[in-house]
Amino acid sequence: MSRGKNPKRKSAKTSAPRQRQILAPLNILILAAGQGKRMNSAVPKVLQPLAGRPLLGHVLLAAAGLAPSQVVIVHGHGAEAVREAFDTALVKWALQSPQLGTGHAVMQGMPHIENDALVLILYGDVPLVRERTLVQLVGLAGPRALSLLTVKLPDPHGYGRVLRDKRGQVRRIVEQRDASPGELRVNECNTGVMCVPAGLLRKWLAKLRNDNAQGEYYLTDIIALAVRDKVQVMPLIAEEASEVLGINDRAQLAQAEAAYRLQRCRELMSAGATLVDPSRCDVRGVVDVGRDVFIDVNVVFEGRVTLGDRVRIGPNCVLRDIDIGADTQVFANSLLEQSLVGRDCRIGPFARLRPGAKLADEVHIGNFVEVKNSDVGKGSKANHLAYIGDATIGAGVNVGAGTITCNYDGANKHRTVIGDGVFVGSGSMLVAPVTLGAQATIGAGSTITREAPAGRLTLERAQQITVENWSRPVKVR
Ligand code: UD1
Ligand code: CA
Repeated sequence: MSRGKNPKRKSAKTSAPRQRQILAPLNILILAAGQGKRMNSAVPKVLQPLAGRPLLGHVLLAAAGLAPSQVVIVHGHGAEAVREAFDTALVKWALQSPQLGTGHAVMQGMPHIENDALVLILYGDVPLVRERTLVQLVGLAGPRALSLLTVKLPDPHGYGRVLRDKRGQVRRIVEQRDASPGELRVNECNTGVMCVPAGLLRKWLAKLRNDNAQGEYYLTDIIALAVRDKVQVMPLIAEEASEVLGINDRAQLAQAEAAYRLQRCRELMSAGATLVDPSRCDVRGVVDVGRDVFIDVNVVFEGRVTLGDRVRIGPNCVLRDIDIGADTQVFANSLLEQSLVGRDCRIGPFARLRPGAKLADEVHIGNFVEVKNSDVGKGSKANHLAYIGDATIGAGVNVGAGTITCNYDGANKHRTVIGDGVFVGSGSMLVAPVTLGAQATIGAGSTITREAPAGRLTLERAQQITVENWSRPVKVR
């Protein structure tokens, strides 16, 4: 049933890690200590979910793609929760308390930084930065050069402005609150992302002062210090503003979610999927699609999803960690998770696949049918109103409407085994553990508690009687 790797299938995720050309080790330092007051939330800002993953998770993913020798996270607000959420061996933690600015934050991380490293500084609240942009940025830095990611914004309000001289050389960064009216008109902004050689960074950090509008140690002041030391400042202007969007409030969070969604949908389309409306398709994980896949509106993908060639997904479906074979159709309003679906199946409308459903090829699962932890053999059908839990169903089986595998006795779960070619009449209760032999037929409305022999008709049913001389009651006046 697993169909192997299709070389034509393209991943909607960005490409594999690339090797850096530079010899110095790369250390990545992520600033994530801020509270995020404007979120108005009990959850630390960097744990706010974007496309189902915390903001900091996105940054870490981009970081890991660069194969750094170290990742240091400076945390502070909600420290314990943040540490727990990213409990990996890759990460070293530095605590910043109190939080006295971005420069102060970097100082707290420096004890973990290797002396000869290039330090790439990322912000925990700038989640959409692309791996290839970072690779480019790191490539511009060196032992006597720092690189700085900037962005030109039509509305630069709130950002630090990048000030250049007449020859276009970057001279310094001024924060919004410290800027003169003339400086506020500059639309090239600091994204916060930069790459700096460790030794020089250490030296400049020691010189930072907090005599500014916010009384903070600004990391951004190291630019002017670099210029003074005649160290090259290499600016890189980000291609897309959405990539460097900083998340300070929930409106920006929604904006980032939309940008992320559009990006993932573009990847799906270029891999060969038709999306009826890319603004109504949510990818919150990694989706691999074959060619000529069709995705209707309001479909949500989560986790790892693989869709074979020509798969069709109807409107309002949720697909989570699922692998669907070629030519299968999923009809409207189905919820499918942690399951394997073969080729040429028909699922839904209103179907539910729960963890551990394994459908072979040409299986039909119809409306209001729930399948859990069960194998369903080739060509078998359960078209209406059924529950199939903890069952092994052979090939060519027909499960009638309203059939239920009674898998739970109040304490333990038991299996139902149904052989090839069985016909289960409508409204049957199959009380597990129970076996129906191959080609058995179960009469409608039966409660089956013992083995039903192969090839025979088995039924369990009270006698039908018709009461003579009975009349309907009449309403008393
Ligand atoms: C910062 C930059 C600004 C830039 C903007 C881009 C400075 C002084 N300003 O401003 O030039 O245009 O980002 O988004 O660097 N943080 C800490 N500890 C602190 C303060 C902040 O870890 O003491 C972390 C925050 O968690 C956040 C990041 O640093 O991830 C940026 O902090 P924030 O307060 O949002 O800075 P901005 O005012 O946006
Ligand atoms: Ca910010």
